[in-house]
Amino acid sequence: MGADLERVLITEDEIHAKLAELAEEIAAEYAGKDVLLVGVLKGAVMVMADLMRALPMTVPVDWMAVSSYGSGTKSSGVVRILKDLDADISGKHVLIVEDIVDSGLTLSWIRANLESRNPASVEIVTLLRKPEAAKVEVDVRWVGFDIPNEFVVGYGLDYAEQYRGLRQVGTLAPHVYS
Ligand code: PRP
Repeated sequence: MGADLERVLITEDEIHAKLAELAEEIAAEYAGKDVLLVGVLKGAVMVMADLMRALPMTVPVDWMAVSSYGSGTKSSGVVRILKDLDADISGKHVLIVEDIVDSGLTLSWIRANLESRNPASVEIVTLLRKPEAAKVEVDVRWVGFDIPNEFVVGYGLDYAEQYRGLRQVGTLAPHVYS
C-alpha cells in the first residue's frame, strides 16, 4: 500500500522520535496528577497507541467518536457525539490526543465540550497540524509536525477508510483518485 503514496512527508522513525520527545514533556507536565488521555476515533488510534507506550508512567485512556452535522463536510463546525466518554472527567487533567488539526473546528468543539464537564484542565496533543487550513484558533499545547495544506494519509489518517495502517504519513498518488 506504500506504493500508493506519491510522497512521504514524515517517516516512521521521525514519528517515533517525535512522540518520544512529546512523551517526555507530557510526563513532566502531568507527574503526580490525575491524568486521563482522551482519544478521538478513529484517526487518533495510532498516535494514542504509540504515545501511551512512550510514556514512562501508566495512564488511563478513554475514547470519543464524533461526526459533523450538515452537508457532510466539517465546515459547519457543529459536532455530534457518536460515542461519549465512558466516565466522568470532573477533577481530572484531560489530555486530548489527536492525529491532525486541520480547520480546528472539531478540536475547538471537543475542547469546549470537555471543559464544560468540570475537569481540572484540558490540553491537546496532536501529531500533525495544518496551519494554513486553520479556520478557528485552537490552543494546542503539543504539536508533532506542522505540515502543508495537502491531503495526507497514513498513521491513522484515511482516504475512504483506507491507508490508516501505513506506518508513515504521505500524500496519495494521483492514480488512487482516478
Ligand atoms: C480528523 C481528525 C480530527 C479532524 C480534524 O477526523 O482526526 O478529528 O479530522 O479536522 P478539523 O480540524 O478540520 O476539524 P475525521 O473527521 O477525518 O475522522 P476519523 O478520525 O474517523 O478519520
